[in-house]
Amino acid sequence: MKTETTTLKEKVITAADFIRDRMPIQPAVGVILGTGLGDLANQVSPSLILKYSEIPFFPESTVKFHAGRLVIGALRQKPLFIMQGRFHYYENYSMQEITLPVRVMHLLGIKTLLITNAAGGIRPHLTAGTFALISDHLNLMGANPLAGHYDEFFGERFPDMSEPYNRKLRKTASAIAAKLNINLPEIIYAAVSGPSFETPAEIRMLQALGADAVGMSVVPEVLVARQLGMQVLALTAITDQALPDSMASISHEQVSQMAAAMTPQFIQLAETIVAHLES
Ligand code: HPA
Repeated sequence: MKTETTTLKEKVITAADFIRDRMPIQPAVGVILGTGLGDLANQVSPSLILKYSEIPFFPESTVKFHAGRLVIGALRQKPLFIMQGRFHYYENYSMQEITLPVRVMHLLGIKTLLITNAAGGIRPHLTAGTFALISDHLNLMGANPLAGHYDEFFGERFPDMSEPYNRKLRKTASAIAAKLNINLPEIIYAAVSGPSFETPAEIRMLQALGADAVGMSVVPEVLVARQLGMQVLALTAITDQALPDSMASISHEQVSQMAAAMTPQFIQLAETIVAHLES
């Protein structure tokens, strides 16, 4: 089945058909769970669980702390399509491959996407343990998932990015955070390819470019979702802080452990947000 000549459109349709045939409920909102944040999927009453390896043309998660399965089920009565673990560019997948699930969600009728991730804070107020909402981004990954062969099936060739992260959804999320007494600053997120963490000089560069936090995901998924006309909200867990003049060493384990420590609050916040998302 996995032939070189299969087009992206054919892959998306095949994967979507496979899931649709097994889908007991129509999901309203798509959720992508980032590093260490996968526990949210364990809160739903699942009606379908599929390993990525079972779904035609889905890549497989190669990163520790990413479960690698699709969970469809309800959380606070809201039917969700949850990606428990995402794909990264640094896993040597193409930009098209890592964003394939977003195209599949769209084909399955999902119009709203909650993206979550772990990131490093590069401003003094963004300490480890803080949650943040992405309001805008810098794509510094050196690639774009919309490049290459174009098919109007996917939307516009030159999609608008004047409001990549939906303002109305951000307002809803901010109000919920305030009610829950959770600090939720808005940030500009710089996406880099990784997998190496940043040097002090790179952090200085990112600060100079206007970034507040840095990570290795989110942006490819947002670009594809926006091309497809989906509305996006992105919730970030700041798992470490990188300030160039006092940089401590950092590891993937630390990032995952901090994300895991943030899980109870993350679940409370994300669960309440999805319950209020329009779809
Ligand atoms: N840099 C890049 N990606 C990250 C970081 C970081 O400090 N923390 C979590 N993901």
